Amino acid sequence: MIESIKGISLIIGLGIVIRYAYRFIMFVYAFSLRAPVNIKKYGSWVVVTGATDGIGKAYCHQFAKKGLNICLVSRSQEKLNLVASEIENKYNVQTKVISFDFNTTDDTKYQALYKQLGGLDIGVLVNNVGISYEHPMYLDELQPSTIESLINLNVRSLTVLSKFVLPTMSEKKRGCIINLSSFSGIAPSGVALLSVYSGTKAYVEKFSLALNTEYAKRGVFVQCITPGIVVSNMSKVRRTSLFVPSPEAFTRSAVATIGHEKITTGYWSHEIQAFFIKSLPEFVTEKILFDMHLGQRKRALNKKKQN
Ligand SMILES: NC(=O)c1ccc[n+]([C@@H]2O[C@H](COP(=O)([O-])OP(=O)(O)OC[C@H]3O[C@@H](n4cnc5c(N)ncnc54)[C@H](OP(=O)(O)O)[C@@H]3O)[C@@H](O)[C@H]2O)c1
Ligand SMILES: *[C@@H]1O[C@H](CO)[C@@H](O)[C@H](O)[C@H]1NC(C)=O
Ligand SMILES: *[C@@H]1O[C@H](CO)[C@@H](O)[C@H](O)[C@H]1NC(C)=O
Ligand SMILES: *[C@@H]1O[C@H](CO)[C@@H](O)[C@H](O)[C@H]1NC(C)=O
Repeated sequence: MIESIKGISLIIGLGIVIRYAYRFIMFVYAFSLRAPVNIKKYGSWVVVTGATDGIGKAYCHQFAKKGLNICLVSRSQEKLNLVASEIENKYNVQTKVISFDFNTTDDTKYQALYKQLGGLDIGVLVNNVGISYEHPMYLDELQPSTIESLINLNVRSLTVLSKFVLPTMSEKKRGCIINLSSFSGIAPSGVALLSVYSGTKAYVEKFSLALNTEYAKRGVFVQCITPGIVVSNMSKVRRTSLFVPSPEAFTRSAVATIGHEKITTGYWSHEIQAFFIKSLPEFVTEKILFDMHLGQRKRALNKKKQN
């Protein structure tokens, strides 16, 4: 009796060890030796929303380096012209800029955007534009207009833009759509004090996975990227560290996962953090995240008082 319990435990234990060893080897392989796919096979243009800063701008540089033409979409015409000329001077590619404010529900404005995108052979769409809170807050402290803009920018923009590019992509049987989610979207407990942000990013994750299944057989690859903290104006983190890459390092790594993973953090150290976020008991991550954001809220409010 004792012997057979020992035997069964040994087999189960071995199974678990083999499973994690396999995951670990795949993880190392994915972020080191694996060859990237040829992104030009999807088409000659990449459209990036929120292209003038942070992660979006860094994505533009990575794709241009690979010889793809870049269409940049965000609000400020000045920033657009600046980033586009930077790219044209550095890489031998074409650029196009479109000034557009995604903080809108107005379909006629979107029609004007579609018209400008119409002529391009779009291979990759990067749904990057997104905003978060000024600082962590309780829902009752959020302005109704902030809730509106979170939904317009984080949910509406990528849903309608994907709908715009998908018919052509599935007709050509090639294309790739990348949606930017976040740790906040994959944490099983959600993220308290960023409830609306965290909810919009969870929408991105589920929407992308469902779409990937819908369109995989029609040659369109849909990918969902779920980063941790990256240096940017949005994250308000200015210094890189082991767990906080620069937008350049982050997107170099994320671009290499295109065509391979349909959902990934995009970066090796974020992959390790995500593993713990998903495997720790939920009450532990819930408490860690809540305490962390309570601290951030307190510091932000103190800073406001001083000014
Ligand atoms: N940074 C992080 O730690 C992190 C972590 C996880 C996920 N993410 C996600 O990654 C994405 C990019 O984040 P980021 O940190 O790179 O942001 P960022 O540095 O704040 O850049 C935002 C970009 O979006 C544009 N933009 C802002 N509002 C816009 C509007 N209403 N209409 C059109 N364009 C607009 C901005 O240009 P204009 O001002 O000229 O419009 C800018 O190019 C977001 O979806 C975010 O949720 C970021
Ligand atoms: C989005 O638009 C609304 C309504 O026009 C406005 O009140 C809000 O401040 C805008 N948000 C951003 C982030 O620009
Ligand atoms: C995500 O990507 C797919 C494929 O491009 C797209 O159709 C979908 O609208 C995007 N949006 C969300 C919320 O995932
Ligand atoms: C952040 O915003 C400032 C001011 O708008 C801008 O000069 C800077 O380039 C932005 N990006 C980063 C990564 O700090």
